[in-house]
Amino acid sequence: MSNESLANLLKEERRFAPPADLAANANVTAEAYEQAKADRLGFWAEQARRLTWATEPTEILDWSNPPFAKWFADGKLNVAYNCVDRHVEAGNGDRVAIHFEGEPGDSRAITYAELKDEVSRAANALTELGVQAGDRVAVYLPMIPEAVISMLACARIGAAHSVVFGGFSADAIATRIQDADAKVVITADGGYRRGKPSALKPAVDDALTRVDGVAKVLVVKRTEQDVAWTEGRDLWWHEVVGRQSAEHAPQAFDAEQPLFILYTSGTTGKPKGILHTSGGYLTQASYTHHAVFDLKPETDVYWCTADIGWVTGHSYITYGPLSNGATQVIYEGTPDTPHQGRFWEIVQKYGVSILYTAPTAIRTFMKWGDDIPAKFDLSSLRVLGSVGEPINPEAWVWYRKNIGADTCPVVDTWWQTETGAIMISPLPGVTETKPGSAQRALPGISATVVDDEANEVPNGGGGYLVLTEPWPSMLRTIWGDDQRFIDTYWSRFEGKYFAGDGAKKDEDGDIWLLGRVDDVMLVSGHNISTTEVESALVSHPAVAEAAVVGAADETTGQAIVAFVILRGSANAEDESLVSDLRNHVGATLGPIAKPKRILPVAELPKTRSGKIMRRLLRDVAENRAVGDVTTLADSSVMDLIQAELPAASSED
Ligand code: WT7
Repeated sequence: MSNESLANLLKEERRFAPPADLAANANVTAEAYEQAKADRLGFWAEQARRLTWATEPTEILDWSNPPFAKWFADGKLNVAYNCVDRHVEAGNGDRVAIHFEGEPGDSRAITYAELKDEVSRAANALTELGVQAGDRVAVYLPMIPEAVISMLACARIGAAHSVVFGGFSADAIATRIQDADAKVVITADGGYRRGKPSALKPAVDDALTRVDGVAKVLVVKRTEQDVAWTEGRDLWWHEVVGRQSAEHAPQAFDAEQPLFILYTSGTTGKPKGILHTSGGYLTQASYTHHAVFDLKPETDVYWCTADIGWVTGHSYITYGPLSNGATQVIYEGTPDTPHQGRFWEIVQKYGVSILYTAPTAIRTFMKWGDDIPAKFDLSSLRVLGSVGEPINPEAWVWYRKNIGADTCPVVDTWWQTETGAIMISPLPGVTETKPGSAQRALPGISATVVDDEANEVPNGGGGYLVLTEPWPSMLRTIWGDDQRFIDTYWSRFEGKYFAGDGAKKDEDGDIWLLGRVDDVMLVSGHNISTTEVESALVSHPAVAEAAVVGAADETTGQAIVAFVILRGSANAEDESLVSDLRNHVGATLGPIAKPKRILPVAELPKTRSGKIMRRLLRDVAENRAVGDVTTLADSSVMDLIQAELPAASSED
């Protein structure tokens, strides 16, 4: 199940060359690979000069105590100054930094000059509330400009933020506040989601009954919902921030000053507080945003649809784009409110030229139908990005064709909360793209695929994705748990960072991500990746989405069980369809990969970041009570699946 299957998936040999005009004016050319290969550290030192340093670093990398890295350690800078003030000083104060689009349709444009004032006021307010350099501030906000302003205000005074995704519960907030020992929480009365105000402050109130140490809660008024109020602790943002001076002198901090902690859940155990620091992180966030999206700050309008609660929001809404002086869109709500064309309406309204979104969203748009984006003028678009999980070739091609007018390059960007910034991705003006592949490590990044014994696999082989050299935006540790940092990432393969993803190299040496290694199935002694079977299923015209799991099986060890969402016209009752699909997978990947069972469903269980929760589907496939559903975006989905599948327990 290695080369042939990939070759089959690629049988049409689809390759897309960069558009000539983009290639001719690209920010980064093929030369960057050569330059970085000849002198990797020199290359990163050069990228660090994209930033404005109060003290220029003379050291590049200190790797004397691996895996604890220091980048640009003797340099000093202020991250917020780099994201805001310097653009104003350069004469671009009137440029719009943020076009905010609220879900109800309200909008607000914030220029760099205005952003500087707001961030300065918020920094003064935090200082007044007793926040000092080195402290932690928890941020639990909807997708409103104050989220970005809060992050930058923390950075400006050298405090680390810990953003907690607005969809998380009181429990999740409490554990994160406690683990990071946050002093102040910034939240809102609520935000708009799916056409209604959705409360946020009650979850903070609840969390704070369980943890100590939070002196003040700063509350943004967004929805005007009623809120409970704890006198002496709770303060309105518009009052406290509103009365501050817009003058704030940014102080320079060490390059290794903590910038933020962001918790990632992992499959087991308590969430890991991923620690990122300042100079190296900002260097790579800035460089990759410039290189991968080819951002031209004077003319582009950039839109990343991620939530600020994920690392994508940190690196590609706040730090990358703003350090580059971009004009960007921030949208508060869901893609189907008030109608399924909302995203495309926003692209048309603001003339978005660079769009960065997730495969789960793209597959949803496919399901909704080609006619919806077709109603809008998307001609401003020139680069499309994807992130979060492997993008199946069908979705990739649909994205390019229906959103990108069959001309925009699609950049499939692989990275993680831990890596801080993009690591593997095409470059839009350089790479001949292949649908479904993240392709190759960016200049200055060293990634490869190894087998169980840590040997690099040859082209055509598969195994584990590893990063073989330190990189500027790498996590520095797990907050408060250096040992777990070593054990989780640096112990599986000596001297290499183990990402936890399976991957393959094709005959050209390009990398194809195969999902988390925990998601690989073992069928009759063959390793089969869930991603590949899902991809094969979705390449059938009747299938909109698929999730595949390995269920315990007496004869084969694991048997492949596929949950599929059919497209509008396909009929779930049609017996021949199921056998068609099995044969289609067999023909694409080989008979061993034929699912034993295929179960049509209306929805799939996903986390709030769009990752399929295979654990729950395995419970269904193995006929067990379904486990913990608290991290599901919509916890009713599992009830729906079980109600639809009275036959799920019976044999094929
Ligand atoms: C995991 C990291 C990176 C920001 C959002 C997710 C998967 C991410 C891709 C991609 C294949 C991808 C990996 C990775 N992933 N991007 N382009 N192709 N897989 O951050 O929550 O830390 O998740 O997401 O499995 O390890 P995260």
